[in-house]
Amino acid sequence: MIINSELEQRGNQFPNDIKEVRQEVDTIYFTTLNEVVLQLTVLRDSVIRFRYGTRGILEDDFSYAIDTDSYTGYNHLELTENKNYHIVTTAKLIIKIEKISLQTKILDKEGHLINEDEIGFHYEESFTLGGNIVKMGKRAHPGETFFGLGDKPVHLNLRGKKFTNWATDSYAFGKDTDPIYKSVPFYIGLKEKKAYGIFFDNSFKTNFDFCQERLDVTSFWAPGGEMNYYFFYGPSMSDVVANYTHLTGKPDLPPLWSLGFQQCKWSYFPESTVKALAQKFRDLRIPCDGIYLDIDYMEGFRCFTWNKEYFPDPKRMIGELEADGFKTIVIIDPGIKIDPDYWVYQEGLENDYFCKRADGPYMVGKVWPGECAFPDFTNPEVRDWWAGLFKDIVGDIGVRGVWNDMNEPAVMEVPGKTFPDDVRHDYDGHPCSHRKAHNVYGTQMARATYEGVKKYVYPKRPLVITRSAYSGAQRYTSSWTGDNVATWEHLWIANNQVQRMCLSGMSFTGTDIGGFAEQPTGELFARWIQLGVFHPFCRVHSSGHHGDQEPWAFGDEITNITRAFIEMRYTFLPYLYTMFYEYSTKGIPMIKPLVYYDQEDPHTNYRTDEFIFGNCILVCPILEPNSKGRRMYLARGTWYNFWDNSVIEGGRELWVDADLDRIPMFVKEGAIIPRYPVQQYVEEKVITELKLDVYFKIGKEASQVYEDGNDGYDYKKGRYSLRNFNLTGKEGELTIQQHKSGTYDTSYDTIKLNLIGLSFEIKSITVDNVEYDLNILENDGKCLKLSKNFAVVNLMG
Ligand code: GLC
Repeated sequence: MIINSELEQRGNQFPNDIKEVRQEVDTIYFTTLNEVVLQLTVLRDSVIRFRYGTRGILEDDFSYAIDTDSYTGYNHLELTENKNYHIVTTAKLIIKIEKISLQTKILDKEGHLINEDEIGFHYEESFTLGGNIVKMGKRAHPGETFFGLGDKPVHLNLRGKKFTNWATDSYAFGKDTDPIYKSVPFYIGLKEKKAYGIFFDNSFKTNFDFCQERLDVTSFWAPGGEMNYYFFYGPSMSDVVANYTHLTGKPDLPPLWSLGFQQCKWSYFPESTVKALAQKFRDLRIPCDGIYLDIDYMEGFRCFTWNKEYFPDPKRMIGELEADGFKTIVIIDPGIKIDPDYWVYQEGLENDYFCKRADGPYMVGKVWPGECAFPDFTNPEVRDWWAGLFKDIVGDIGVRGVWNDMNEPAVMEVPGKTFPDDVRHDYDGHPCSHRKAHNVYGTQMARATYEGVKKYVYPKRPLVITRSAYSGAQRYTSSWTGDNVATWEHLWIANNQVQRMCLSGMSFTGTDIGGFAEQPTGELFARWIQLGVFHPFCRVHSSGHHGDQEPWAFGDEITNITRAFIEMRYTFLPYLYTMFYEYSTKGIPMIKPLVYYDQEDPHTNYRTDEFIFGNCILVCPILEPNSKGRRMYLARGTWYNFWDNSVIEGGRELWVDADLDRIPMFVKEGAIIPRYPVQQYVEEKVITELKLDVYFKIGKEASQVYEDGNDGYDYKKGRYSLRNFNLTGKEGELTIQQHKSGTYDTSYDTIKLNLIGLSFEIKSITVDNVEYDLNILENDGKCLKLSKNFAVVNLMG
């Protein structure tokens, strides 16, 4: 046990007695005798901000993470006190602030302790003792588990581990490597089946300890900035994640094609190679929507230029690809080659847009093009300029998406692989050093790119992909998990990383399918595709140095398996798009770890392999070679095996067969899963029928299907189609009600119900009060075609 006085001798300071309490609407300021100020704001009944200033001062309040429109309006609170505590009460929480220490306890309305300070807030200000550190210590309880934190390549449960957030270029990182590319200082705690979240919004190098140093303490700290954290109460994990995502921002819908399959490599060039690649996809009938050009398309790796030898007429090429259903996405890095004859460098120099060292010279570092200067993306004027640079490449040449890489920022051949700490940044009018701006640099680059692509691709929707990100980046960009390796361990990592990113507000994420470094065996590639088609962002990428990684590179058997799974993804497009709609409107993660799905079941707390795709498909990847199946945990409830429709009770571990052409997949009873026909690319076909796979259940279940014009912004004016279905199953009866909203008229006129697991033979069919003849049934009485606007269909046995 470490006591305060010991820590004080080491230079730690602690708040002492509260001398003043001042309330301003929904914010309360507690000031102590030693001039610590706690600013407590009630943003929502269950969302509380805690912000601590020392020496009586709070900094100018500014954050890149927060979506400023997220919480507005007054929230009701009551402020009372007793002998030992000031007490803030909201409709959902009771927050007690100890009068002699500023230590807090947070309880729900029934009096359950949700979270409490251990040592609480403390800080060091002495430079000889380590400089300016702000730290928070919380008590951890036996059995409490922890989740979240962005892209950490570890088991989902973070307990027993310690982490640092400092965006780092991490080629061929491994299990437990820390830190890597992203910084998402948000975690979820689950204590006695109740979930809460903590977002430490501090862009310095943040640190988190989940009971590693001391078994009963979690703590988080940063070498600079303020102790500024948001507390979210559930009790459901879904509310915690939704509130965090709401606070840090939800993305607009991406173009539907970006949920299709995408193929990338370092690098496809020249034009003839790109065209042959595209042709091969079509010849082999493997669906694909996106082709990526890596750095070799540029002239000497100069961003916004084209190598005219490889790509003599990019506009024509991109147009031809587009005519065949392929969108072209190009890479853009932050390093601008120092070349006095290069227009981007000239403009940056003339306008003073590049980052500088503390003593004045430009920050110069080596990246792909050699010595580079780096735009200060934390300056709004620089972001505007950068956005404008996309005019030709997107607006004229026809590029449809931009891939931002090396934006940690990565610098080659220097210790730390990034800028020195002293580099200066504007930080939107809050000048600071790189210590504070480092973690947000990549997001601000992606933001500037997003503004540019959005403007010039208009009226279509933009696509941006980033490698580095800070909380809130999801408002602008999708992401991938960086330079992974073609190993089985990395397949495990990929599964954890994407689930974790989904819990951390950044659902639109994928991995380099097959592995970036080294070469996968055909078997590993097949197993990775089987997982990758369930990830919101689905792209094969590899470093060309290790051999080919196209779907046909591993022989016919693997080509056929790959095709089948990519086709499956295309049939799930309306389901995926609806998942994105729920993410973009409500902040619901697109895929969900089992613990999120059923936090009441203690077994889920320690699982990491199984996840839920959308709301009702449970998937568990095969992660080992030579497998004929695996043991896995099936969440509680009744499930249909996707492959043979057999019904199985969950809440237990079981062996599931899965040869190389299968992945364990289960559909929740009562689910209604929308499917499109296989297409070679989005909008290849006019959809003439929406198929609904209906998994019978005795009981009720609700589901929805979102559709719109697939691209463009009309959906914002109400031109979308949202079908809400309520399924009610009884012995010998199934009723499905449809309630439709939105003014978009889908291209199909019929909905085909594909009835799975019906426990009775249909003897009567009533649609909107009209009785139908049984011979409208197809496929042995399992399919029923209806007008798309039916309100109620009733089937009786
Ligand atoms: C980095 C990226 C990788 C890319 C390569 C060349 O390693 O992470 O995806 O292919 O740079 O641009």
